[in-house]
Amino acid sequence: MKVLVVGRGGREHALCEKAAASPLVEKVYAAPGNPGMAACAELLPYNEKDHRLLVTWAQQERVGLVIIGPEQPLMEGLADCFSDAGIPVFAPSSRAAQIEGSKSFSKELMEKYGIPTAKYRVFDDFVLAQEYVKQLDMPAVVKADGLAAGKGVVIAHTKEETVGALREMLMENRFGPASAKVVIEEFMAGEEFSLMALVNGELVVPLELAQDHKRAFDGDLGPNTGGMGAYSPVSQIPAEAAAQAVEQILEPVAKAMVREGIPFTGVLYAGLMLTAQGPKVIEFNARFGDPETQVILPRLESDLIQVIFEVLAGRRPELKWSSQAMAGVVLASRGYPDTCAEGVPLPAFQEEDGVGDVHIYYSGVCQTEDGLVSKGGRVYLAGCLGDSLGEAREKVYAFLDRYRQPELFYRTDIGKKAVSQ
Ligand code: AMP
Ligand code: GLY
Repeated sequence: MKVLVVGRGGREHALCEKAAASPLVEKVYAAPGNPGMAACAELLPYNEKDHRLLVTWAQQERVGLVIIGPEQPLMEGLADCFSDAGIPVFAPSSRAAQIEGSKSFSKELMEKYGIPTAKYRVFDDFVLAQEYVKQLDMPAVVKADGLAAGKGVVIAHTKEETVGALREMLMENRFGPASAKVVIEEFMAGEEFSLMALVNGELVVPLELAQDHKRAFDGDLGPNTGGMGAYSPVSQIPAEAAAQAVEQILEPVAKAMVREGIPFTGVLYAGLMLTAQGPKVIEFNARFGDPETQVILPRLESDLIQVIFEVLAGRRPELKWSSQAMAGVVLASRGYPDTCAEGVPLPAFQEEDGVGDVHIYYSGVCQTEDGLVSKGGRVYLAGCLGDSLGEAREKVYAFLDRYRQPELFYRTDIGKKAVSQ
């Protein structure tokens, strides 16, 4: 069978690698992919926006399964195009993807079905929003309603800061139409974790937990980014809390979507906070997380493609997980998440340097005659499995020490808190 993965980052690299390892798969294609993943996927000259070209190509090639990585094409209806053409696709329709694409949609859904999340109000009027702030306890959280590449969230510690964030979003169009509407919500204190599940209608198959590190610098300092590293499993989240999150959050949400007439198919990702009252939802995503996928899939011993087909057929697959832990550290260009340098030559990792043991998942890279060079923000993720998270961390940081480059930076504390607890 031929498998098509849509997207171009580290998440898609990990998906291509896992798909290529399946005995069911004869060939993996990535659209557009990136040159760093060329060893496991053939790159297609189409991008995430070429809906019609992608569908025509997939029909001609008799593609057996399509997996869509990023959120934007989901919102734009790419999964609908494949399913209308009768091509099996593991991704939600554009209507179902609203659970990520519109924060007000997902908050209203959670409110209606009693799913635990922060208290909130939605505003499109600056004056009314400003008035509401007067009665709030601080800190408060201000979120652009639509997609803002993970950057549309402000945790405001004072009322002035809250109003400032509201002014930027509602009056100054900071995120364009994505911030024409905002959600103001209660701040939740606790441990944050990511729980993804393979979903088809009411069938919910949870994956193991991971934890992302969203801030740019060590100690959770600096601006929010797309994610600077992750690890899995997350030992500081008790198994009961994970089970509670499946029973009280993922399963009821999947049911709610069916009840609303917009059943969800694909990966439902819950960004959760373990609060004193149990797990509560920070956000939903309608896709695999990045960089969580890069530390979860290498731990999955089952055949991902077979598992996805089981789920698409409405059957619950048995997932087998490695008992090993994985730590993944993102290498980003200096300046990220703002403007950063490009064109930095990347090391040609050598087998004898232990690369065989290290998973490298590329994202912002391009190919030159002399090898891969960086292209923009996050460049690659290096990840290692270990018998413990401590061992996984030691392995990955020892490796990165050998390849230090002044033009790239990485956090040195990925998974550190989990090890010292
Ligand atoms: P989001 O884009 O919704 O995932 O938010 C980005 C980050 O802001 C999250 O990963 C959390 O660390 C933080 N955050 C968002 N909402 C809340 C909240 N209600 N309480 C505390 N932290 C939050
Ligand atoms: N790691 C956060 C995300 O994928 O949105």
